[in-house]
Amino acid sequence: MIIAIDGPAAAGKGTLARLIAAEFDYAYLDTGALYRAVGLAMLKAGMNPADSDQAAAASEKLDLSLIDDPALRSEAVGSAASQVASVPTVRDNLLYFQRNFAVTPPNNKKGAVLDGRDIGTVVCPNAEVKLYVTASPEERARRRTSEIQMRGEVANYATILADVKARDARDMARTSAPLKPAADALLLDTTELDIDAVFLRAVRFIKSKA
Ligand code: C5P
Repeated sequence: MIIAIDGPAAAGKGTLARLIAAEFDYAYLDTGALYRAVGLAMLKAGMNPADSDQAAAASEKLDLSLIDDPALRSEAVGSAASQVASVPTVRDNLLYFQRNFAVTPPNNKKGAVLDGRDIGTVVCPNAEVKLYVTASPEERARRRTSEIQMRGEVANYATILADVKARDARDMARTSAPLKPAADALLLDTTELDIDAVFLRAVRFIKSKA
């Protein structure tokens, strides 16, 4: 079984995806980390993430060791990732890895959970289960702010809210695989739901498809 989870930044997709993967003993792939790895590789090499040709070149040789780099989660890398993600060649270069993971999950797992922006629409349009997880930009910025503060770092709510909105606009407006719910996705708005409630709804939906 393939479970596709899409939605905007900081909506709670990652937490939900990990819980679902643990519940069903499926493999989990955070596809945003792949775009982040391309963005981080470029920043490390002194390249400009806004340059499509350089981004296309950087995505040819994906360095998977960057997935474990602590800098992967920084706002600067998130922003670079969202820039490289609008380049069609970058998306094509990452497509094979994602599809292969979904169809042949590692460790002989019987299913895969992938989260991202275009899993249900482009990467795995035939996924048995599609979830679209969202929340208001203000709520997502609030969560991101407290997440950063919990790590002991300085976070400014207004700056983060502006970044969340800019990232949404870029992800939804791009011509190549824009962020949007698949027609057959279950919509989960987490603005006023805690993770336990979201998880229960998702599990009920998955079991109805099994
Ligand atoms: O989810 P995360 O914030 O780690 O993703 C970083 C960026 O990668 C997103 O802003 C988005 O532009 C891009 N992305 C994408 N398609 C995916 C996953 C992430 O375009 N499937």
